[in-house]
Amino acid sequence: MKKYEETIEKLKKYEQNEIINMMTKKYTEDEKNKLEEQLQNINLEQVIELYKNAKKIPAIDETKIEHIKYTDLKSLPEEQFKEYKQIGIDVIKNNKYAVITMAGGQGTRLGHKGPKGTFKIDTTNGEKYLFQIIVESLQKANEKYGVIIPWYIMTSEDNNDQTIEFLEKNNYFGYKKEKVKFFKQGKVPMIKTDGNIVIDKNKLVKEASDGNGSIYKSLKDSGLLQEMKSEGIEWIFVGGVDNILLKIVDPVLTGITIKEKNLISSKSVVKKNAKERVGVFCKLNGVPKVIEYTELPERMAVETDSNGELMYGEVNILSHLFNIKALEKLADQKLPYHTAFKKSNYLNEDTEFIEVSEPNAYKFESYIFDGFSFFNDMSILRVKREDEFAPIKNASGSDSPETAIKLYNEYVERNNK
Ligand code: UTP
Repeated sequence: MKKYEETIEKLKKYEQNEIINMMTKKYTEDEKNKLEEQLQNINLEQVIELYKNAKKIPAIDETKIEHIKYTDLKSLPEEQFKEYKQIGIDVIKNNKYAVITMAGGQGTRLGHKGPKGTFKIDTTNGEKYLFQIIVESLQKANEKYGVIIPWYIMTSEDNNDQTIEFLEKNNYFGYKKEKVKFFKQGKVPMIKTDGNIVIDKNKLVKEASDGNGSIYKSLKDSGLLQEMKSEGIEWIFVGGVDNILLKIVDPVLTGITIKEKNLISSKSVVKKNAKERVGVFCKLNGVPKVIEYTELPERMAVETDSNGELMYGEVNILSHLFNIKALEKLADQKLPYHTAFKKSNYLNEDTEFIEVSEPNAYKFESYIFDGFSFFNDMSILRVKREDEFAPIKNASGSDSPETAIKLYNEYVERNNK
């Protein structure tokens, strides 16, 4: 009883009157216990703080935005290219390299039922699932370097079981099962514009995935970061699940990062034009950052250098490399949360299920790239868009299966010649 009263007191403190009314008037003892149990693991103070800040967009001081240095792969002198590559190859051959695929997203824009990695596309090389494409790319590297690269997959509460089931059913597409590990990302409650936390059909708080920035803490909490360390892994490539030209094993990227004495690096591609709606690399307050197109002042978006290239033209393609020390450091940092305004069906105070047609609730997400700002510098390697970037985001139009398959097929054709 005391526990129940404490929960109500806590809910009162954060003005969660809807939940209080529901619990006291409409819930059975069993339902109360379940919700109480869930609430014990939710940091209400943090959620309310996020809600209060939901509409505040942190102002960026334009005077603190600077260009970031990058290396263009195509203009690397041959000697240097070879040197970087050899350094990277040594890392891979010595079993110090691992890959993480971030597959915890909801893939709402694509609208595929099930985890995005289970989406199938038809290419000139036959039909392939997105997870299968990743396996093929790992296997190719394994053959080349005589290793079996450990593969870690970040899932979410919503898609973890389905992801594992899918890979089991497909026998991991021939990958050594013991080398594939899963970890779940975190979640944060959604909250309605009126400040009440969203209660789902199951009479529990609706918690949504907390963004791909969850990777740092979740990897540590799962125990896998420690495991990587004890296995001698030093460099970890992190990428998304939906770029079908993503180069997940690249000795050159590894070599350049080591040579430049950085703990993190990213690939970039050139922004198509000043208006392209993408995030680009820059420095803000002297440290690396990915700045969203919405945040970059127009005058800077069009600014060019002496070669006529955009000053802020290095597009983030979610192709990152981390030293294990960087992941260890980031696991203990608080990343900022970004707010998205979403549609969320909910139970009202009378426990009626309300289906909404307009956005009504806030969802909070942290982004992996916000981790970069905890370091003074990072290496950026500019690569050719047509070689490494074919994202599947939307069901049709730009960045859709159709556009990605075309890029994939063209790549295959170019490289088979
Ligand atoms: P996106 O931001 O493109 O999200 O993710 P999404 O879930 O694929 O698609 P939408 O926005 O709902 O349509 C980029 C990468 O980050 C992963 C995704 O799985 C994808 O590989 N991601 C995203 C996570 O792992 N967790 C998240 O919470 C969000």
